[in-house]
Amino acid sequence: MARVAKKRTPKVVFDYVAGSAVDEVAYSRSRAAFARIELNSNVLRDVSAIDTSELILGKSVDLPICFAPTGYTRLMHHVGEAAVANVAAQKNLIYALSTMGTTSPAELAQLVPGSRRWFQLYIMKNRADTLAVVKQAKENGFEALVLTVDTPVPGLRYRDNRNGLTVPPKIRLDTIFAIARKPRWWLNLFTTGKLEFAAFRGWDKSLSELADLIFDSSTTFEDITWLRSVWDGPIVIKGIQNVEDAKAVAQLGVQAIILSNHGGRQFDRGPVPLEILEEVVAAVGTKVEVYIDGAVMSGLDALGAIALGAKAVFIGRAYLYGIMANGEAGVDQIVEIMRKEFVNGMALIGCRNIEEVRTNDARIRN
Ligand SMILES: Cc1cc2nc3c(=O)[nH]c(=O)nc-3n(C[C@H](O)[C@H](O)[C@H](O)COP(=O)(O)O)c2cc1C
Repeated sequence: MARVAKKRTPKVVFDYVAGSAVDEVAYSRSRAAFARIELNSNVLRDVSAIDTSELILGKSVDLPICFAPTGYTRLMHHVGEAAVANVAAQKNLIYALSTMGTTSPAELAQLVPGSRRWFQLYIMKNRADTLAVVKQAKENGFEALVLTVDTPVPGLRYRDNRNGLTVPPKIRLDTIFAIARKPRWWLNLFTTGKLEFAAFRGWDKSLSELADLIFDSSTTFEDITWLRSVWDGPIVIKGIQNVEDAKAVAQLGVQAIILSNHGGRQFDRGPVPLEILEEVVAAVGTKVEVYIDGAVMSGLDALGAIALGAKAVFIGRAYLYGIMANGEAGVDQIVEIMRKEFVNGMALIGCRNIEEVRTNDARIRN
């Protein structure tokens, strides 16, 4: 799918999705870690009926694979966020809409009313602005807030610098050549709605002014306590990368954490989330649900993370490659490929349900 995606989208867009920070070491370490997971293959267990469902924040999903929040989805393919949410709704999965989404919370709720939707938030420079965004999530039936905490400053993404990435794309001489190479993508971009941070429509600010307001590098644990006081639904903290921080946020009345290094797009020398998963689950797993993301690229990656104790995994690039390759159908295909691998893997390790997967004694090879 990534190969087809690369053929169908301009290099600047493909690289924005595929790329990570600085030397891209964190991402490749995460990928390598997934290949080192080893599960016990138990035979003669009657796996004629397999159930992949799991309870996430108290409600059942058909697979413990959720859609991570990703900005600018309409840049990847003009069908955008609503197409991903639609696949999630049809398959009883969870979709998280990014603050930097190119579809607003209200539009998403209207286009895909049946979706189980979470809203990804940043604590913004100004509390009143943060509240205005939280209000949109509340009014439009978002079930949970996903607070991203690994972005005190933006990651240094050199591929984007080299490619001269701007949103919306600026027309320069090399843009004309790029249009000649991917005419369909460009036609779709110019003939569908304006590309913007849709949650901030009407704020009368440029994208760079907005980006400046969205990230507050002075955010602390106290801001989580504040958020707890203004939002009565579940809060998920995204971007936890060590046991101490997991313990600290678990005390603050949140419901879940996502162990995540932002897919390697922020700090490029941190620990690999998968390698600290078991320790984090042992420390806080009875207080909060522990999810993981970063470099989950197959059903077996997901199965391995679940076996090591994650309640669910989140995917980012995997579904973005799907949407870039083939729009909504591509996202559907990605889920079905991952589901097939997940179910096949469960049968081959002798597990009928997720609870049994967690008792497999899986490990990460040295
Ligand atoms: C193109 C792209 C845009 C992203 N935008 C956001 C965002 O707006 N907010 C956020 O919290 N995480 C964002 N992320 C990070 C994802 O939520 C997730 O942590 C990451 O993609 C997981 O790694 P994976 O892509 O290898 O699956 C983005 C990731 C990608 C690839």
